[in-house]
Amino acid sequence: MSDIVQAHRLIIAHHFLDGKDSILLISIVYDSGFGHTARVAKAVAAGIQEVQGAEAKLIAVADGLIDWESLERSDAIIFGSPTYNGLISARFKQFFEDSTKAAWTEQKWRNKLAAGFTNSGAQHGDKLNSLVSMALFAAQHGMIWVGLDMMPGNSSSTGSADDLNRLGSWLGVMTQSNTDQGADITPIKSDLVTAAYLGRRVTETARRLQPA
Ligand SMILES: Cc1cc2nc3c(=O)[nH]c(=O)nc-3n(C[C@H](O)[C@H](O)[C@H](O)COP(=O)(O)O)c2cc1C
Repeated sequence: MSDIVQAHRLIIAHHFLDGKDSILLISIVYDSGFGHTARVAKAVAAGIQEVQGAEAKLIAVADGLIDWESLERSDAIIFGSPTYNGLISARFKQFFEDSTKAAWTEQKWRNKLAAGFTNSGAQHGDKLNSLVSMALFAAQHGMIWVGLDMMPGNSSSTGSADDLNRLGSWLGVMTQSNTDQGADITPIKSDLVTAAYLGRRVTETARRLQPA
């Protein structure tokens, strides 16, 4: 999103807020080697922006400099990584390690909401390990983990890959990308809609937790 579009969104949000609610900032920190997880991150951002007065900030760890100040201001941080070798990517792990000095020592993220998503090539692909790493990381930061409250799809005789949560995850969102297709085609729509749902859920939960 361009700075101008983002500024417009904020002005509109301020205009429609009833005075009691304030702007929510939800950051998505993610890695993506080939664009598939980036696509999921954008879907999560779209879900966040469905909530009135919410701003989504995408932070790609590959860009180098992490905006630690924005993360400190965020009401929630959503983590996203591809599953590589059954765990989060090396770049994403580097972000975890760098956060020790930038945030952990002073517990700057304590009591913020956290959630996660991961994308891989295989249907299963050992993705759970990546989500567990993110949830543990969040717990070490004193954050409050928000899971996926969605019934598993594609798990009955009438189900299909078009079902939301088609990979049946609760800890966070799991998406799958065919390894011979680009990020313009895969992951499929049901995965992206599930990711958007998580973004909306985290944002609505943050709204509920705002002090009166
Ligand atoms: C180094 C490496 C390791 C991978 N390990 C796994 C794995 O453990 N499980 C899996 O299902 N897919 C694995 N894949 C496939 C990726 O998860 C898949 O291509 C994913 O869509 C990449 O997302 P990205 O485009 O955001 O990097 C691996 C790919 C790479 C490059």
